[in-house]
Amino acid sequence: MQALQDKKILLGISGGIASYKSAILARRLIDAGAEVRVVMTTGAQAFITPLTFQALTGNPVHTELLDTAAEAAMGHIELARWADIIVIAPASANLIARLSHGFADDLLTTLVLASDAPLLLAPAMNRLMWSNAATQENTRTLIARGVTLLGPDEGAQACGETGAGRMLEPEDIRDLVVQFANNEMLSQVAIPVEADNHVPGTPSDTPANQQPTGVKTALRNSLAGLHIVITAGPTVEPIDPVRFITNRSSGKMGFALADAAHRKQAKVTLIAGPVTLETPTGVTRIDVDTAKAMHTAALKAVEGADVFISVAAVADYRVENVAEEKIKKNDDNMTLTLVRNPDILASISALPDRPFCVGFAAETQHVEKYARGKLKKKNLDIIAANQVGQSDNPVFGSDTNSLDVYWPADGHRRIASATKKQVAAELLDIIAERLANR
Ligand code: PMT
Repeated sequence: MQALQDKKILLGISGGIASYKSAILARRLIDAGAEVRVVMTTGAQAFITPLTFQALTGNPVHTELLDTAAEAAMGHIELARWADIIVIAPASANLIARLSHGFADDLLTTLVLASDAPLLLAPAMNRLMWSNAATQENTRTLIARGVTLLGPDEGAQACGETGAGRMLEPEDIRDLVVQFANNEMLSQVAIPVEADNHVPGTPSDTPANQQPTGVKTALRNSLAGLHIVITAGPTVEPIDPVRFITNRSSGKMGFALADAAHRKQAKVTLIAGPVTLETPTGVTRIDVDTAKAMHTAALKAVEGADVFISVAAVADYRVENVAEEKIKKNDDNMTLTLVRNPDILASISALPDRPFCVGFAAETQHVEKYARGKLKKKNLDIIAANQVGQSDNPVFGSDTNSLDVYWPADGHRRIASATKKQVAAELLDIIAERLANR
């Protein structure tokens, strides 16, 4: 049986450039077994024609409230009763405002008022329009009335700006509709809205001008829209101006995770020790050298983040007194005093408002015992253990890896040997699954 078998979906389309994606959404919903009827606002028709949707759905497209021919075929009240679910994608700022005030000034808003079918909205607009206090207030009003929000996503926008307000991809909307139709809870999570939300004409200290909290829907078993912070590579701990202590980490595993997380539509911040790898597309990279610098950068980056993945091979110790001048080799022996570095992962997992924490364990023996020990001691949600230093695959520096992934209480999954890119994608699927079950 198909995921949306026999479901009657009314797909509403309001004006916005994202409406070109609605054609693909209509196709995806039909592929999942749904019967789809499309209602378009006047604004939507400026971007894409009703004919496109008529051809895709095999049903006439509804555009007018007071059209005698359309009313004779299937009147608006009949259409409102017909729908099992109403999905509006894209939902423009104007449509959200009209819905929140109960307008019935065109066919789409009238249908929403006249239907008791659940309403799912996929907002799409410029980031400043989305973060505007008016839009945020209207959105909160709709959510309080039981409307479900799908997205919005963050990233590059058609207007050339970057931020929150992009419509989710058609496949993500389809997946959320499937989950909704299967009575799965869609988690509506609060996100801070970063842009200016000043309401013209109001003093800056009124509640309307306080930083609002937006809402987005986290896709179950998906990382779309989540902020993931990843550390990767080695750290280097200086001895003097020309010497340092480091390890064999190449950064490949962490960079593969950053790339795969971006492909899964997460917002990714990658904190990298000194490596020679190119920054994956769409990933924000912060370069650091020492463990202390990585610690400072990671603590800042995880503020408000959803997931922290600690792949870096962080030096456990640093030289207590770094020489200002090059140390001369006067004696046969030299003694360096090392002091403990901060444990970055443990300090992040101890934060009161901590992200979902994923650690790595590089072990040469007793992999499960040691990995589970770190899982518990560092209070982690997941630990991914790799057996390092083997002659056929040292893991450090190589292009392949395999992982044993552990979580409390006795959770375990094996990711078989594959390229680090493939292993990364599989690990992220497990993270998304565990995150949804948290
Ligand atoms: O970079 P590659 O060449 O691709 O190699 C990949 C890798 C082997 C480095 C990677 O897969 C890996 O195993 N990374 C973790 C290495 C490690 O330092 O493991 P650990 O068992 O010492 O540390 C446990 C966890 O605590 C790790 O998540 C580590 O990032 C974190 N940690 C450790 C010490 C410290 N001071 N701060 C930390 O955050």
